[in-house]
Amino acid sequence: MKIYFAPMEGITLYPLRNIHKEMFGECVDKYYTPFVSTARTYKFKKREQRDILPEFAISFDDYKSEVVPQIMGNKAEQIAWAAKKMYELGYREANLNMGCPVATVVNRHKGSGLLEDTDKLDAMLYEIFDSLEKENLGIEFSLKTRLGMHDESETAGIMEILAKYPASEITIHSRVRDDYYKGAIRLDAFCDAVKVYRENGGKAPIAYNGDITSVESFNIVKSRISDIDRVMIGRGLISNPALAREISGGEALKPEELRTYLDKLYDAYEEYIPEDRNVIFKMLEHWAFLHVHFKDCDKQLKVIRKSRSKGEYRAAVANMFSNCEFIVEQTQA
Ligand SMILES: Cc1cc2nc3c(=O)[nH]c(=O)nc-3n(C[C@H](O)[C@H](O)[C@H](O)COP(=O)(O)O)c2cc1C
Repeated sequence: MKIYFAPMEGITLYPLRNIHKEMFGECVDKYYTPFVSTARTYKFKKREQRDILPEFAISFDDYKSEVVPQIMGNKAEQIAWAAKKMYELGYREANLNMGCPVATVVNRHKGSGLLEDTDKLDAMLYEIFDSLEKENLGIEFSLKTRLGMHDESETAGIMEILAKYPASEITIHSRVRDDYYKGAIRLDAFCDAVKVYRENGGKAPIAYNGDITSVESFNIVKSRISDIDRVMIGRGLISNPALAREISGGEALKPEELRTYLDKLYDAYEEYIPEDRNVIFKMLEHWAFLHVHFKDCDKQLKVIRKSRSKGEYRAAVANMFSNCEFIVEQTQA
């Protein structure tokens, strides 16, 4: 089973990618960057561009194939331009965001907003793949999508269109846009989507995405999608950085490992954003997921949240580790 670390805006930036790769990366096949936006100016935003500069991919022996930059846009020529830029930076693959559910994105017909008008989607994909083929760059172009905007009746139409183009891989988040990231995952609709895609001649490998948070949930999904050999995991890997290892039959997360991971992450963020308060904000994004490992930790978590300096933060974390029982979630593969 291939396991991919999902793109998460503001979270899976290079400090996290590097530290996760260094400590838990042996069972993760690819790390996707948060999206980089295209623009009329044909320039990336400085902050977004910095995240994809190869010089920062310090933990990766082969960032070209292990890190996948993601593109957000809605104009074929801008998207093809961005893919070309990724190629120039050395990347073997670029990914298109067709799944972001955020209203400001969707209203601009980007992210999952691309799924609303299938004729436009068809025309856009035609132009992108045509342009990439003419340039003959050899960059692989993959897609990350959902089952539709509003409901499952849209899925077949979308998959018929995707089947027409030579995407290198398609990741499907098993929900529609209106679900955002909540509610039951739509496993039947996911299976139907794969079926329609294949029946229409679609050749790309398909990756499953959605709510894999433990070995147990992985096994449930796997039993339903037996022909799928790759999964993308987001929140599950943030809350349990060792999840890919556990799914691959390895050891469960150990408290001392988590402690080291948090320390290294702090140091990496400190270089990225040199201001205690902002580093702590970044760490709190992780704690929002990680606190599940500590029993009855409300009080200790509050102290972490209130910390204003590196010293306060470190003391609060030490307090959490020494006073709250560590919960190992799922250990059986
Ligand atoms: C805070 C946050 C930021 C996200 N940012 C992106 C993004 O930049 N690009 C993208 O394709 N998906 C993004 N996603 C979606 C994730 O990649 C993934 O599809 C989603 O979290 C569902 O997978 P999971 O259940 O394994 O977390 C984001 C999700 C969250 C919660």
